[in-house]
Amino acid sequence: MKNNKQVSVLFVCLGNICRSPTAEGVFRHLVKQEGHDSWIATDSAGTHAYHIGEQPDRRAQQTARTRGVDLSDLRGRKAIKTDFEEFDYVLAMDDENYQILEAMCPTGLSDKLSLFLDFSKEYSETQVPDPYYGGDQGFEHVFDLVESASRGLLEDITKRFR
Ligand code: 4NP
Repeated sequence: MKNNKQVSVLFVCLGNICRSPTAEGVFRHLVKQEGHDSWIATDSAGTHAYHIGEQPDRRAQQTARTRGVDLSDLRGRKAIKTDFEEFDYVLAMDDENYQILEAMCPTGLSDKLSLFLDFSKEYSETQVPDPYYGGDQGFEHVFDLVESASRGLLEDITKRFR
């Protein structure tokens, strides 16, 4: 939730039940752990409407839970044009969702849009792969990628805004 905090981050994937809620949960956990939760807000959304109002996928919740991150309060929603006015960072999980967001983005606000993995220092991959139709190990890999990019993102935010 945004709650009028100084800096806000929106994570976006296709369904908002696997990758982007994992990213939101991991990043918000890190932000809290590092004592920045009073000024950094997080949210997530999907480019498609299939899972509006749903909890994160059971496998995403399970993977996150075993690694100390609770996703149970998150609910699916669809990304909307005004998200680009509301949020400072709009972070796509892959090129497909990046392109959908780019087409939706109002003129002059495209600097807010990036691929989330561009913030990772440990991984050269640019795409968080869609784990929905695969096995549990896909969710583990998503978690690893997201954890790395979350650290880089927090560093970027603290450099830019503090
Ligand atoms: P997500 O994964 O984009 O990481 O939430 C998916 C979830 C649902 C579907 C596709 C991807 N789906 O086709 O319903």
